[in-house]
Amino acid sequence: MNVPMANQNNRKISILGLGQMGRKLAQLYADAGYEVTVWNRTPGKTNKLSKVQVADTAEHALLASPLSVVIIANNAGVNELIGGLSDRQILKDKTLINFTTGSPAEADALEKSVTEAGGAYIHGSIQASPDQLGAESVAIVSSGNTTAFDQYREALTVIGTKLRHLGDKASVCLAMDIATTTWMYGAFVGLIYGATFARQHGLDLKDYAAIIGDIAPDYTDFFKLEVGIMDRGNFQDAQNPVSLHIPIAKRMVEAFKEANIQQDFSNIVLDIFSKTEQKGHGAESLAAISKIIAPQS
Ligand SMILES: NC(=O)c1ccc[n+]([C@@H]2O[C@H](COP(=O)([O-])OP(=O)(O)OC[C@H]3O[C@@H](n4cnc5c(N)ncnc54)[C@H](OP(=O)(O)O)[C@@H]3O)[C@@H](O)[C@H]2O)c1
Repeated sequence: MNVPMANQNNRKISILGLGQMGRKLAQLYADAGYEVTVWNRTPGKTNKLSKVQVADTAEHALLASPLSVVIIANNAGVNELIGGLSDRQILKDKTLINFTTGSPAEADALEKSVTEAGGAYIHGSIQASPDQLGAESVAIVSSGNTTAFDQYREALTVIGTKLRHLGDKASVCLAMDIATTTWMYGAFVGLIYGATFARQHGLDLKDYAAIIGDIAPDYTDFFKLEVGIMDRGNFQDAQNPVSLHIPIAKRMVEAFKEANIQQDFSNIVLDIFSKTEQKGHGAESLAAISKIIAPQS
């Protein structure tokens, strides 16, 4: 993909929010030769930052650069920040990239207010901790104004090089955040239940961890296959019919009961599989559980 060269204007950036993430971002941009203006609600967070200009208000920070990054505790705060501007027109022709974690509805509302003021809004999600920022491996997922994203693509690569822009709707990025967190927590809860069961049966947890590491890549392929089946809506080409997994889930419930381990997790799995079969989808691929979770999908 063509990457537009950053011109002088593209090398000015304001960072609003100097928590752990914002401070690290500000220093990265300053070290990369950007003209950096910073602002934080509580003054005095700029010590240890070098080569940055400090704005005394959010308004001054937004005015200082064509591109502003907001990264604060929550989007209620971002709302307050925008709502507190003396004149929304300050945002005209400016690009705001908001890396604050939140809900899709919050991104929708912020996109509306920035766009109505004539600005470009992008919501981003940085998939890394403060210490990792700037490493090539850091992934940034974003959505919102694609023209602005293309314009500032190079600026984003200062934070990380794995960029994935998900289109023009800002809320999609935060929906992705919730979706991937759901996947991760689902897998994580299963992981720890499995470890608890394994330990009760004398399996060394070091071996458990190693085996999980060995089989995880193949399961990742299986997950991608099943999401693909759901995407195409062709549940009939079942290599993994729901009915095949019901006895396995029943065995899991029984094993946990015998081991006197709390059964909430195994019961949920069996319940979802069973409901899918009762609705007549037993011969379909395991991804058919989506028809129970959200019947309209
Ligand atoms: N830390 C991570 O590993 C990580 C990774 C990815 C994404 N994130 C996301 O990045 C965002 C910032 O995280 P962080 O770790 O930098 O947080 P943090 O260290 O706790 O800092 C929070 C920042 O938010 C500011 N703030 C809070 N409420 C505000 C308001 N109403 N108006 C203006 N500023 C306000 C604070 O300002 P004061 O100094 O005035 O209190 C502070 O600068 C969060 O949305 C977080 O989910 C964090």
